[in-house]
Parts: sequence; C-alpha cells; structure tokens
Amino acid sequence: MRIGVDYYPEHWDESLWEQDAELMKKTGVRLVRLAEFAWCRLEPSDGDFDFSWLDKAIDIFSEKGIEVVLGTPTNCPPRWLCEAHPEILPAGDNAEINPIGIRGHRCLNSPVFRRYAERIVRQMAEHYRDSSTVTAWQIDNELEANICYCESCNKKHIEWLKGKYGTLEELNRAYGNVVWSGEYSAWEQIDPPYGGYNRAWLNPAYMLDYRRRTAEDVTEFAAFQADIIRSVIPDAKITTNTWFCSEMPDFYKLFEGLDFVSYDNYPTTIIPNEPEDIYTHAVHLDLMRGIKQQSFWIMEQLSGAMGCWMPMQKTPRPGMIKGYALQAFAHGADTVVHFRWRTANIGAEMHWHGLIDHSNVPGRRFEEFADLCREAENLTQYIGTELDSKIAVLYSVESEYALGLQPQTEGFSYMEQIKLMHQAFARFGVNVDIIGESADISKYRIVCVPALYVVHEDTVKKLCKFAENGGTVILTARSGVKDEHNNCIMQQLPTVYAELAGCHVSEYDPIGWGTGKVLFTDGESFTCKQWCDIIETDTARVLAQYDSDFYAGSPAVTLNLYGKGEVYYLGTFGERRLYEKLARSALDEQGIEYFPDLPMNVEVTTRSSEGGSVRFVFNNSKKEQSFNINGEEICLRPFEMKYI
Ligand code: GAL
Ligand code: ZN
Repeated sequence: MRIGVDYYPEHWDESLWEQDAELMKKTGVRLVRLAEFAWCRLEPSDGDFDFSWLDKAIDIFSEKGIEVVLGTPTNCPPRWLCEAHPEILPAGDNAEINPIGIRGHRCLNSPVFRRYAERIVRQMAEHYRDSSTVTAWQIDNELEANICYCESCNKKHIEWLKGKYGTLEELNRAYGNVVWSGEYSAWEQIDPPYGGYNRAWLNPAYMLDYRRRTAEDVTEFAAFQADIIRSVIPDAKITTNTWFCSEMPDFYKLFEGLDFVSYDNYPTTIIPNEPEDIYTHAVHLDLMRGIKQQSFWIMEQLSGAMGCWMPMQKTPRPGMIKGYALQAFAHGADTVVHFRWRTANIGAEMHWHGLIDHSNVPGRRFEEFADLCREAENLTQYIGTELDSKIAVLYSVESEYALGLQPQTEGFSYMEQIKLMHQAFARFGVNVDIIGESADISKYRIVCVPALYVVHEDTVKKLCKFAENGGTVILTARSGVKDEHNNCIMQQLPTVYAELAGCHVSEYDPIGWGTGKVLFTDGESFTCKQWCDIIETDTARVLAQYDSDFYAGSPAVTLNLYGKGEVYYLGTFGERRLYEKLARSALDEQGIEYFPDLPMNVEVTTRSSEGGSVRFVFNNSKKEQSFNINGEEICLRPFEMKYI
C-alpha cells in the first residue's frame, strides 16, 4: 500500500517546503499531489508561464524520493483570463454569467476556455515530460456534469439533439411534446432547463437527454486533456478524482479513456446509533473499484474534522485515520492520498482539517497517520492483488439520473437501494462488486438489480441469459418502468422483466414514509416501506405476502425458476433484515461460502492473487468487537483492521 498527501506549496512560505518534505519522508509518505488549482501561479499573465516555483518544490520532493502527481489547474482559470474573456465563465439557470470568487468558474464547452486549457496543459506536459518524479497526472478536480446555460452550451445541445434525432418530428415524438403544446417547430426553440420553477414540471424525456449531454461534456473534456498529455508523454498515467456529487458524471464513460480511477473518500465521522443507518463507505469503494474493474486510488482521504461551507463535524475518532485508509485498501485502493498535509491557514477551506493543524504542531491524528504509514509498508506485498467476487450489484447511471429527476415516493433513493443490496451481502463477509450496466456479468453467480428503472435492451438480454445459465438475479420494484427516452412503457410492470420474474404487478402503492408488513411463508415478518407492488404470479412462487393494508394476502416477494437459474422479485422496499434474508437464501442456493455470524459493522474482504489470498477484517464501529472467523478468535478495537 502506498500513502500520499495532498500538498499546496503555493499556499505556504517557501521556507516550510523543505521541512514539510523532510517530515513526509521520515513519516513514510511516498507521493504528493500538487498544483491542481495553481493556474494563476503557473501562468501569471497571458502566455507568460512560470514553472520555477513548482520545479523547486518538485526538486525537493524528488530529493526525498517522494513521487509527484500533477493536477492540471483547469478548475480555476486566473482572473486575467476571466477579465479578458468573460465568455469562458459558466452561465447560471437565469442565463446570467456566474460571478467569480470561488472555483469551478469555467464552462467546459467554451471554445476560448478550451484554447487556454489546451495551452496550459500542453505547457505543463512539455515541461515535465522527462521528469522521473512526476509519475501520474490528475485532470482538473472533481469534474461534475457541465450544467451551464451559456450560448456555447445551448448551441452544442441543439447540435447534439440534431445528431441524435435527425428531425424535429422525431424529437417531438420521442419527447411526447404534444403534452402541454410543447412541440418544437424550429430547432432554435430548444432552450436549456432555465430556472424559476420546479424542475419536476419539465418534460422528463427532455431532462434525461439534457443530463446525458452534460455528462458527456465531462467525459469529452477529460478525454481532450488526456489526449494533450499523451501527445507529449505517450505513456503518462492519467486519472481524474471523482466523488458522489449532485450532478454526477457517468463514471463508466468518464474513466474509459483514463488509466485509473481515483476517488475522494470522506467517510462520516458521526457514527449513527440507529442500526438501520448504513454509514459504511465500503459501498462507495466497491463502486469505484467496479468502474474499471481494477484497483484504484484514493486521491483525497479523510484527515481531520470536515467543515467550511458547512459547520465543522466531529474530528475523526481514534482509529478512523488509520482504519478508513486501511478499509480503502481492503477494497482495492492500492494508493491512498490524504487530504491534506496541513490545514490551510488561508482561504475558504481553512476549516477543512488536514493531518496537521493550523499550529503546525503534529498531534494525535498525525501520530495515527504515521502509524498508518508504517503499516502500509507491510501491506506493499498485497498491491496488485484482486478482489474476486461472485456477487455483483448493478448500478445504472441512467436510472440514477432518471430517478433523480422524478422522485418516486417519499424516502426513496436509488443510491440507498444500491447500499441496501450491497450491505445485505457484504454483511456476511463476501466480496461484492458494484458494476455498471455494460459490464460482463457472466463471471458472477448472483447479480442484484435494484430499481433498474430505465430499460436498455442489452441489459435485459444479458440478465435473461445469466439466469438461463444458472445465475441468481434479484430484481426489485421500480424496474422496467421507463423506455430509453424516459417515457413509461405500456405494459404491466415489471414490463420487460415480467417473464424473467415470472410475475406481474396489477397495481402499486407508493406509501412513502408509511410502513407496512410482509410475512414470509416460513413465518418471518418484516417492515416494508416506501413502495408496495401488488403482485400476481405467473410462473413464480410466492415467498412472502403483504400483511397490511387493502392488499394483505397479495404476494410481495416471489421466486421464479428461469432456465437453470432463479429470479427473486422484491415488490417492496424494506428494513435491512429483509434484504439479508434474500441474500442468505441466494448464497445458500449458489453454494457460496460466507460468514453467517459476523457481528454488525465488522467488514471482511478478501484480496487474492496466484500466490494466495489475504483476508481483511475491519471493525467499522465505535465499540470493541470479539468474534470468531474460521476457528480464529479475533478482537478488534474501534476502527481497527487486521489481516489474516
Ligand atoms: C474535495 C475537493 C478538495 C477540497 C476537499 C475538502 O471535494 O476536491 O479540493 O475542497 O473537498 O473540502
Ligand atoms: Zn456553457
């Protein structure tokens, strides 16, 4: 395992650089990320480049044997550029140019911005092409979908639609624009979704396309920068740091053209008392690993109390600094870079804490970090080992977008369903992959498909074939609802999945915050919530019925034999234990080994290679836990990890 830190030489007096680098070396830091917001220092005026300060910093790290990841600074165009070319600034949903003063002030589609971005990126690549210290590149920072309402974006969107639909008739038909007299009679009538009213009033087909295009912008922008870097340094290792934001990119497409995934990992420091609340970041880590189905990096890792635009949250409890970094490694993050070395004394983020406090006196968190660095050395032997999994949870970017556009019922969230499915299996100490819709699923034994809302024919075929060949599929309510345009399908739910599930839905009840009961044929009962599909079976058998409301006695959960495989249909959403029941039953059926008696919040993953495998056991809770694994007694302090 390799440990790094995020460092901003441009924020500190030069006299600190050498001291900082020396302490990093002594502590066991192997790499630093630099420069991702430093455009104004790299190009102080138009065409006048200054790499001298960065050279100096890089030389210092180089002498200490510390590698450098260079960020391209395109997130923050300098003031002189914005002043000379205000057209590079993004426009808000009132079509007015956003004021500058914070970061992210650029429209990815602005041709002028692209020209300047291309030049700074090329300059950097050319300047550092022969550096043996610069070993990887980060493009921009936390790219979000390019939601911008400027002229360039509007034009681009219309061209995009012309390319997709060819004629306005086709577009009007696909969007159902006859509703509310919304039919376009000229391309120029197409506007972006300006603000001023509730987005949910806008046409969902139009909105999904808009989300698709703004996500494509990001993919294309990252590829544009990667191409520039590679044209200068053909074997450059390139990434961008991503996270779960409100305007998510399409992770799978974004990283297709990049070398590795990196993720900004800030697990919560507030551990809820309520056992129903899933707070583990394991699900995010598994999703990140699943993007390219290979090991990944953490580019920013929790280092101190978080806060700045929000009030500060609890400081990481003892064990969290080390434990959460090791947890990331246990899920495939071979490199973990901590954000940041020292807490900023200046700027808006001065309350987002780093490893060292404002005082520059290393304290408790730093000691724990130093301990992590020592442990990381022992783990170096496991770099490159893989998490082999028989279980996958399918995460559909388009369903995420579409469900975000039209919330289904109070309390329902797509990501929550992904988490519940993931947790149901991970809970028993088995590796779980979270994969995208285009992934090959043939290597798995169980594929969970929560709320696969937007239909893609390829996915339907893939799931049918998977079940036919003996795989287990778990489907849930809100599957097969929308066609590719985000319009409802005129068939009984789960429409294209009805044959696979062997049942259909005669009516549904969005119960929101209300709750009901489901009763399994073996007598176990569970609370259900948010949604109730009233099911009629065709070829499936009933596993559970509702025990509440006017549909008491109707099927709620079914199981269908399909080819050599089995298909569960969960017509409702429920408490955690309900998912666990299905998980156990699927694991038993598939003959997959698991740990049935793990205490809650103990996480077990296995990384393996031809040379053997190692099991990581992590106590992700605030209390000490003792338990038995394969005959071995294990006792773990809060947030402690052992590998066996
Ligand atoms: C990340 C971002 C960093 C820093 C950090 C803490 O999302 O990439 O630049 O802002 O959050 O606030
Ligand atoms: Zn724009």
